[in-house]
Amino acid sequence: MVLRLIEDYAKKHKIPIMQKEGINFLVDYIKNNNIKTILEIGSAIGYSAINMALVHKDIKIITIERDKELYFKALQNIKDFGLEKQIEVINADALDVELEKKFDLIFIDAAKAQYINFFVKFKDNLSENGVIITDNINFHGLVENIDNITSKRLKSLVKKIKKYIDFLKENEEFTTEFVDVGDGISISKRNR
Ligand SMILES: C[S@@+](CC[C@H](N)C(=O)[O-])C[C@H]1O[C@@H](n2cnc3c(N)ncnc32)[C@H](O)[C@@H]1O
Repeated sequence: MVLRLIEDYAKKHKIPIMQKEGINFLVDYIKNNNIKTILEIGSAIGYSAINMALVHKDIKIITIERDKELYFKALQNIKDFGLEKQIEVINADALDVELEKKFDLIFIDAAKAQYINFFVKFKDNLSENGVIITDNINFHGLVENIDNITSKRLKSLVKKIKKYIDFLKENEEFTTEFVDVGDGISISKRNR
């Protein structure tokens, strides 16, 4: 099994997966920061989880996906890579999932309208030096060009991402760095 096949499948079935630049950044971040435990919100078909698990065999990932079909496809892909021992997939709405475990990295890549809720719900699942990384912060450049958006639905979604950015910037518990890579990534660390 090769990652290219998952990329092709995602393209063919219009399943949004991380952009190459973004995934490379994430993988490097995991390597450079010795991250071993990861919680991912939004598995889709397991592409980013597989990429992250392949960094090191000691890495353990819990990933949550609410869509049943995507969940089964993720399980299949993970099995094809022989990564079942490293990646656990939970089929549920992340907002209904209660976890006791602590994670070095929480990666948010699910419904953009819920970003603040995901952050607030899972921030206490961070280990002492843990980070929360969020994808799609630029949302295809639309966050910078909000006034040019004509679709009401899209505008409302982009406004929610903007609200999340403001939430991160004003947050007194966490400091966030915004990285212009892929579709825009934020890295939030708890203040000491
Ligand atoms: C952008 S895709 C994830 C892509 C994946 N991280 C990758 O790069 O391979 C977002 C996924 O989040 C899922 N999702 C959205 N809201 C969710 C929620 N509240 N709980 C669990 N999954 C959710 C969607 O069904 C979708 O498959």
